[in-house]
Amino acid sequence: MALNYMDCFRRLFLYCVSFVAFTIAMFIFMNLFQDVFRNPLYSLNSDAESRSSYQHTTRDEKGITFFFTSTSKTSAINKNLHDTLLAQTSTVSNLLMKEATIQRKELLTTKSAVTMDTVGSNQETKLVYPLTAFGSPYVLNNDQICVGANNLTFIVLVHTATDHFYRRSVIRDTWANKDILANYSMRVVFLLGRPQDNIKLQAAIEHESSLHQDIVQGDFSDTYHNLTHKGVLGYRWISEFCLQAKFLIKVDDDVFVNIFKLLFDTSTTYKTDKRKLRCYIRMNQTSPIQRKSGKWAVDESEFKNMTYFPVTYCNGFFVFMTTDIIKELYEASKVTPFFWIDDVYIFGLLPAKAGSVTFESIAGLTLSEKDSLECFKKDTPCDYLAGTAVTKGSMETLWYGSIKQYSSLAKAYAKPQLFNT
Ligand SMILES: *[C@@H]1O[C@H](CO)[C@@H](O)[C@H](O)[C@H]1NC(C)=O
Ligand SMILES: *[C@@H]1O[C@H](CO)[C@@H](O)[C@H](O)[C@H]1NC(C)=O
Ligand SMILES: *[C@@H]1O[C@H](CO)[C@@H](O)[C@H](O)[C@H]1NC(C)=O
Ligand SMILES: *[C@@H]1O[C@H](CO)[C@@H](O)[C@H](O)[C@H]1NC(C)=O
Ligand SMILES: *[C@@H]1O[C@H](CO)[C@@H](O)[C@H](O)[C@H]1NC(C)=O
Repeated sequence: MALNYMDCFRRLFLYCVSFVAFTIAMFIFMNLFQDVFRNPLYSLNSDAESRSSYQHTTRDEKGITFFFTSTSKTSAINKNLHDTLLAQTSTVSNLLMKEATIQRKELLTTKSAVTMDTVGSNQETKLVYPLTAFGSPYVLNNDQICVGANNLTFIVLVHTATDHFYRRSVIRDTWANKDILANYSMRVVFLLGRPQDNIKLQAAIEHESSLHQDIVQGDFSDTYHNLTHKGVLGYRWISEFCLQAKFLIKVDDDVFVNIFKLLFDTSTTYKTDKRKLRCYIRMNQTSPIQRKSGKWAVDESEFKNMTYFPVTYCNGFFVFMTTDIIKELYEASKVTPFFWIDDVYIFGLLPAKAGSVTFESIAGLTLSEKDSLECFKKDTPCDYLAGTAVTKGSMETLWYGSIKQYSSLAKAYAKPQLFNT
């Protein structure tokens, strides 16, 4: 009996020792691989992200915050980038590398960090991508906009400025109203960034968002040097929440669209479109890169030695495109270095990277508000498809004009309620 007690005690002791040893071993193991265990984003499996060595955010001299990704020279993604004309890489200074390493440590513990792999010894390239391509980019998101929209023909993305409440409300009340179309459906999303240091404005936007549930706000300052982040956010949002839409209508918030004509053209001419952008085309090698001064002046370091933009792109105030390429365009933004002129990036560099995309010029676009106001006043249908409506009241005038001119199409496509008032 005594012997059995001893035996039992010895076994218990051994179990205890093994348990302690196991715990210590696990503790050491977890510490060695703490980067892996702490970073919830390690599981992301996107090609670009999983192959890049690390990324961090930093600011340039103009205060623009960028995502930097350093990749080892030999990694597949880097080779890919070197192989393309569009990849603009430059060498990171030693200082930046040091800073990057410090920042990487900090970022590993934050939620927004997109950090992969371990740091190798031979990173030399600096790649800069849109902020909204990675991490969690939404300040406000209405992810239910397309839910339940069966047979969704149009998703309308309106690039809008934070304080343009009136323009958004007019667009909602006129051509982009989601309740207008009967057999075809349309949903509208207003894309904006953060207002700068303006808490009241942000509160008003949040109120508007809860009222209309059509706002998507990205985590970047809403300035014209940041418009590319907005464009990428739009592609990303559709990829995540609205891929069932057949066509994307991208407009600025001062654009009127002759929606009945567009619907007619869509159900006749455009319905077989695939991988296509229809817009006012800026042909490859024809749009001059402004270098000196002015709003659109491009720094010498970007598109080095080039006089014309090396891609075909769209004039962005109205772009009509098929959604079959949207996900690819969003994915392309993760491997296409940031360039701040959004039309060039969103409708040029990204389609070029995605490949097999065609551009077709679309008739009936005008930038002259005067012309379209006159045109929609006539008794016969105006051929304009879209035009700018900047002056207060002009959007409404154009809308009523178009309903009158296109009354037979409007009666065919719209719900009867449109004609009740
Ligand atoms: C769905 O939309 C297509 C055009 O996108 C249209 O031809 C068709 O009639 C619609 N179907 C229904 C059931 O409304
Ligand atoms: C829309 O649907 C209604 C009935 O659901 C039908 O009578 C009408 O012809 C359709 N209009 C078009 C343009 O398809
Ligand atoms: C772009 O947005 C970032 C992030 O909010 C901000 O830090 C930066 O100042 C903005 N850039 C410009 C040029 O406004
Ligand atoms: C740009 O032009 C300069 C002077 O003509 C030349 O030295 C340099 O190599 C060129 N750079 C590129 C990237 O073509
Ligand atoms: C643009 O034109 C240049 C020179 O003709 C050519 O090398 C390049 O491949 C073209 N790019 C695209 C995207 O078509």
